[in-house]
Amino acid sequence: MKQQLTFYKELEYFPGILDIIKAEAEQTIALYIKNVPEQINLEEFYESLSKKIGYFPYIDEDPVTAEIHTNTWMEIRYEEEKRFSAYKYSDLSHPLHTDYCYIPRNFIDLEWSCLFCKVPADIGGATVAVDPYLLLEILQARESDLYNELINIPVVFERLGSVFGANKSKIIDFDEVGPLFCWSPNRVSKTNTPEVLALCQRFNEFLERKIVGGGLTVPINLKSGEALIFQDKRYLHGRNGFYGNRFLKKNPIVKHNVESAKKLVEGLAAQG
Ligand SMILES: [Fe+2]
Repeated sequence: MKQQLTFYKELEYFPGILDIIKAEAEQTIALYIKNVPEQINLEEFYESLSKKIGYFPYIDEDPVTAEIHTNTWMEIRYEEEKRFSAYKYSDLSHPLHTDYCYIPRNFIDLEWSCLFCKVPADIGGATVAVDPYLLLEILQARESDLYNELINIPVVFERLGSVFGANKSKIIDFDEVGPLFCWSPNRVSKTNTPEVLALCQRFNEFLERKIVGGGLTVPINLKSGEALIFQDKRYLHGRNGFYGNRFLKKNPIVKHNVESAKKLVEGLAAQG
């Protein structure tokens, strides 16, 4: 497939960055914003930046209780007592995934994520991701049986208790600019058939043992104030394990069907 988007690009902070961010984000799967001045209010800056790209709802679903929050950034923060309850509290590695695979796209399409760093890990903790065009090449050339199943067999993804219900999607799909992924090993519904569950296990093993384990991911070590703006469905990403009090903040950005997304988020906010 002809590559139409840049996989990864570094962008140094400069005072006019908000004027170019939309064009840059649309051309790039993952934009790494570097060297952000210390005196900047990060929450305000990244809210303004996100709003240049699209609709920016504050929306977060608790990974344990599925409670919805609609008034602040989602926090990904190491908490020792909760480290085995969810990845966002953990210091362990996180397998490759997309963030919103369990949310049906016709319900709300959370297309981008804005992820910025408040406190980096002392050791480790890089965000890692694989170039989707490289992944496609490997699957087509070396894993054709697996590839054919990934592009043909729908899988149910869900987060138990979520207001978003469940999402049924092929793990790999395509739009006019490239591959789209819908994947998280932790969100594969137990309601899938044994054959589908076996496919998910094979794909996860392929990703973890041949892609992550093959050294084929690109690590990004966000420093304090730095961010990744990424197109979630094109960015299979994970995290290296770490030591320290790593603390990141994240929120989605919506580009399409903004009016229905606004209504949905306002409705959720009213319920909360
Ligand atoms: Fe993620």
